[in-house]
Amino acid sequence: MNGSMPETIAFDIYGTLIDTHGLIDTLRNHAVDNAALFSQLWRQKQLEYSFRRGLMRQYKDFSICTAQALEYTCQSFGVALTQQETDRLLSAYRALPIFEDTSEGLKNAKDAGFRLYAFSNGKKTDIVQLFDHADISQFFIDIISVDEVQSFKPDPAVYHHFLEKASAKTESAWMVSANPFDVIGAVSAGMKSVWVQRSPDVIMDPWEVVPTVVIHRLSGLVDAINGWRQA
Ligand code: 2OP
Repeated sequence: MNGSMPETIAFDIYGTLIDTHGLIDTLRNHAVDNAALFSQLWRQKQLEYSFRRGLMRQYKDFSICTAQALEYTCQSFGVALTQQETDRLLSAYRALPIFEDTSEGLKNAKDAGFRLYAFSNGKKTDIVQLFDHADISQFFIDIISVDEVQSFKPDPAVYHHFLEKASAKTESAWMVSANPFDVIGAVSAGMKSVWVQRSPDVIMDPWEVVPTVVIHRLSGLVDAINGWRQA
């Protein structure tokens, strides 16, 4: 790593390290038609609920947003789940799979001397469960959750909380996220950001804020940051 002070990386979790669409087969087993579309609406509503709760200052933790979004999506698709099926799906959400490039990207970043943190809308206990299941906790110094400030991304307060808790300098802290709203939130709060665009179908919101660096696979993270430094 160049320079003396090791740089900090905040990794977004849901949608960046962990595949929020990893339950499509499980949904099919629950007789959900159009399981891929169901999964998309579930995720979209989960995020919408977090945004709205942040704006309304009616914080409930992210697992509540997930559960209420599932209920909405079931109603929208005309799917009737028993309480036991709902509980099983929500517990499967705590064991969602990682993307195939996640472990390699984390290992490269740690080996290159970066300070790695998880920084998520999710509660710490939920992230611990996901990490244990995916066997990736060894890469991180700590897990920092928005739950500690009772608000959600992209409220600037949560990025400031991250920087303070990680004892990171704003200008040498990177947010790595596949979620455009998270990239824009972090850059707006003064951080640098790497946008992980795994598919060309995902579009960066055409705002006045752009990611510092764009990558297409997490395994390209260190090279991309080093390339940006040398440019
Ligand atoms: C996360 O904070 C934004 O859902 C994403 O993990």
